[in-house]
Amino acid sequence: MKKTVISLAVATSLTLSFTSVQASTSANTSHHQSSEQKVLKKINAEKIYQDIAYLSKKPRVAGTEAEREAATFVQKRLSKLGYESAVEPFTFTGYTPAASFSLSVNGTSYSPTTFTYSTNGNVTAEIVDGGLGTKDNLANKDVTGKIVLVQRGTITFGEKVLNAAEKGAAAVIIFNNTDGELKGTLGGANDNYIPSLAVTKEEGEKILTSIQKGEKPSGTVKIEGAVVSERTSYNVTATKPSTFKKKGTNDIIVVGAHHDSVAGAPGANDDASGTAMVLELARVFKTLPTDTELRFVTFGAEEVGLLGSEHYVSELSEDEKNRIVGMFNLDMVGSRDAGDLVMNTADGTPNLVTELAQASSTRLNGSPTPFQAGGRSDHVPFAEAGIPAALFIHSPSEPWYHTPEDTLDKISKEKLQDVAEIVGTAIYDRSSPDQQGSSVKKKATFKAPHLYHEQDVK
Ligand code: BES
Ligand code: ZN
Repeated sequence: MKKTVISLAVATSLTLSFTSVQASTSANTSHHQSSEQKVLKKINAEKIYQDIAYLSKKPRVAGTEAEREAATFVQKRLSKLGYESAVEPFTFTGYTPAASFSLSVNGTSYSPTTFTYSTNGNVTAEIVDGGLGTKDNLANKDVTGKIVLVQRGTITFGEKVLNAAEKGAAAVIIFNNTDGELKGTLGGANDNYIPSLAVTKEEGEKILTSIQKGEKPSGTVKIEGAVVSERTSYNVTATKPSTFKKKGTNDIIVVGAHHDSVAGAPGANDDASGTAMVLELARVFKTLPTDTELRFVTFGAEEVGLLGSEHYVSELSEDEKNRIVGMFNLDMVGSRDAGDLVMNTADGTPNLVTELAQASSTRLNGSPTPFQAGGRSDHVPFAEAGIPAALFIHSPSEPWYHTPEDTLDKISKEKLQDVAEIVGTAIYDRSSPDQQGSSVKKKATFKAPHLYHEQDVK
């Protein structure tokens, strides 16, 4: 009876995922179950929880000592498990936000925000209307030495600031075109920037009205303590070669997570949870025979633009790219207060990773973990290199995402156990010599830059 139910459930998952999987017959479904017990018996959510506890004592911002400590912890653990492991440094241009910033207009204090990559300065000057801050808008205006007020829209914040700078302006104020605070980024560091702040639509319109009335408002833009500097972040890698010298498949499976966090957030769920789960899967697989190479990787500098995974993919040879059959990205996998488990693929289409996980979740829970299009994490650089990759995450996200409240007490051991079982058995399905994992042809390379750039660039 039970077998029939499982076969039906597998059939359902196949229909849902639109691509062919070598269907499990009832016979090898039961074989699956007995063999999978080896993985299931070993996975211990308590161990994942303890590692999250260790990692989430403080924020682990890329390029800081705390990130280095986290990377060292991961590497020591992997090497203690008996893996060949390495810490791989890479450099990036980092930004520390201003310690203080303010805007006053005709003596009245406003409540601005700063952009990521805003530069320091202390400017008092007349504020003039710069429209949308396009080159055309500024073409016939004398903005030399002045503060230019521009509205959000049409071009990026960074372009607005550079256009005003090119015309000799001293500072820029960008006002929102919808309700609410404007929290954006200039997109990257640039020596040509001039100090820039953002204000709400309401505050911006107030200043604009004053300009239009001919009042020639005077503003003071002050930004202090912002730092742009070259920093070092780290990826940590461990490899489990095929157990069989001759019978090996030549394939590689990558399991990854990012160990860095955003400033101010202990990142228990984002992403100490994924990092600790990578460590647990590394522990579980250490003593299991596999015919496929497994790589356990934790990435640095994900939160500043997927830099660790980009670096990792950029260092892969063509041969390695061809041999990696799947990348499992674990990012935010344990929040008590988030929704159900979903998978995100960069282009929204299924691949070997989603196929394997849909099959394993069906075997374990009776229904396949759904997938949808989504970027914003370390699976994206792999997908762009033509490697089947998926993000495992609970959706909708918890309210503590990127806040100081992303702490251990919000972590659910049940959710950790569930994700580790789905991912662990999916990997075992494809890498165990006595399993017949599904096979899906690799997709051609594609570009989806919109899937990983920060939302507020425009
Ligand atoms: N774990 C998040 C990504 C995420 C959060 C995906 C919620 C889906 C739902 C990740 O660490 C993150 O914050 N990514 C950045 C993007 C990155 C390119 C800087 C983001 O989404 O802002
Ligand atoms: Zn994350």
